[in-house]
Amino acid sequence: MEKYQIKGGRRLSGKVEISCAKNAVLPLMAGALLTNEEVLIKNCPKIVDVYSMIKILRCIGVDAEFIGNDLRICADGLNSEVVPFSVAKELRSSVFMLGVLLAKNKRAEIPYPGGCEIGLRPIDMHVASLKSLGVVIEEDGGKITCDASNMKSGVVYLDFPSVGATENLMLASVFTKGETIIKNCAKEPEIVDLMNFLNGMGAKVSGAGTDTIKIDGVKRLHGTIYKPIPDRIEAGTFIIATAITGGEVEIFNVNPENISSLIHKLCNNTCKISLNNDIIYIKCGKSRKSFTIDTNPYPGFPTDLQAQMTALATVCKGTSVITENVFEMRFKFAKELIKMGADIKLYGRTAIIKGVRKLFGTTITAPDLRGGAALVLGGLVAEGTTIVNGVRHIERGYDGFENKLLALGADIKKI
Ligand code: UD1
Repeated sequence: MEKYQIKGGRRLSGKVEISCAKNAVLPLMAGALLTNEEVLIKNCPKIVDVYSMIKILRCIGVDAEFIGNDLRICADGLNSEVVPFSVAKELRSSVFMLGVLLAKNKRAEIPYPGGCEIGLRPIDMHVASLKSLGVVIEEDGGKITCDASNMKSGVVYLDFPSVGATENLMLASVFTKGETIIKNCAKEPEIVDLMNFLNGMGAKVSGAGTDTIKIDGVKRLHGTIYKPIPDRIEAGTFIIATAITGGEVEIFNVNPENISSLIHKLCNNTCKISLNNDIIYIKCGKSRKSFTIDTNPYPGFPTDLQAQMTALATVCKGTSVITENVFEMRFKFAKELIKMGADIKLYGRTAIIKGVRKLFGTTITAPDLRGGAALVLGGLVAEGTTIVNGVRHIERGYDGFENKLLALGADIKKI
């Protein structure tokens, strides 16, 4: 079990290049199965979740391999509609196999998906919306078996703008004759990226980025070469890392528009931020003020940056209030920050954080991906040495995290 050893107290400074977005790449990897031709995902991040998805693809006969930094996928050998539990348990995005296998082969059998334990994370909306389009679904003994022989186009209304359910429906209906409409869909930038990718393969999808998506069924898709959008959550994490250490960093390959809620929060908080196309420059003093955050679906404040902002709040002057509206259990990391001297009280989905003068290094454990990143940020600013266990959680979503931090002057190493 690898750990990070961090000696705190260094200001971050320099330049960092952001990788392509994990949450864009995973549905794209599934979408690549919709054609038998070759798909090349340019600059694909080499993260644990991508390798877990590669395992799933290979398990059902699909070729998937890195060629340098690009991921090549070719599904002409696809030979099964059954995704085994042994590979699906690693990753919630295994649920996308439902959509693509139904679109391509009209049948799918997948186990309930795994992933970060940050809430109940049911897939009832995926199931209900597919059923409403005529897919016959049996749920039994931890697995879901689906038959789309009678799937028809139609209008689906999501009770909540679920990112995964929106993407699964887009994937499932690309070949369905007629027009499928998803109402109250998610508007995240990764949804727009999936639309662009599918349209690049010959699909007819419109409306992504608004609350209504239309999919006009086409007969076939072809191969493509596609570069996914930059990872707004990785960029946000480096911005917050700069703020917590009182640093000065230039962040390359980022779309500032996609993290405007974070930029707005920090501009109001003694940080100087300037934007230049796909570059963000941030300079931060050490006299940070407390703040209030409510996480919400895009364009609201991203739940995936909540933990990192909680870490920042622990060393801000005054009392911050952070409310998590998307997931039920996304404060597991807080008890680890408390071990470092943070003053955090939890009231259901709300955390009240009183800023302290210092955090202190100790041994802590990453409970999940973003919670783990928040603990690393705590370690960067803590006095003394912090050991973060559970590095694998962090490596699920950050490409070369410690090397990027090291290049910015952090004292961090894997042991
Ligand atoms: C995606 C992101 C994740 C991010 C989340 C919210 C990927 C690979 N992961 O996760 O990083 O934190 O969006 O921005 O893109 N829900 C249900 N029933 C369902 C589906 C969802 O109750 O059928 C609930 C979930 O439990 C959660 C909320 O809806 O409380 C949001 O989930 P959703 O938007 O689906 O997130 P994911 O797609 O799992």
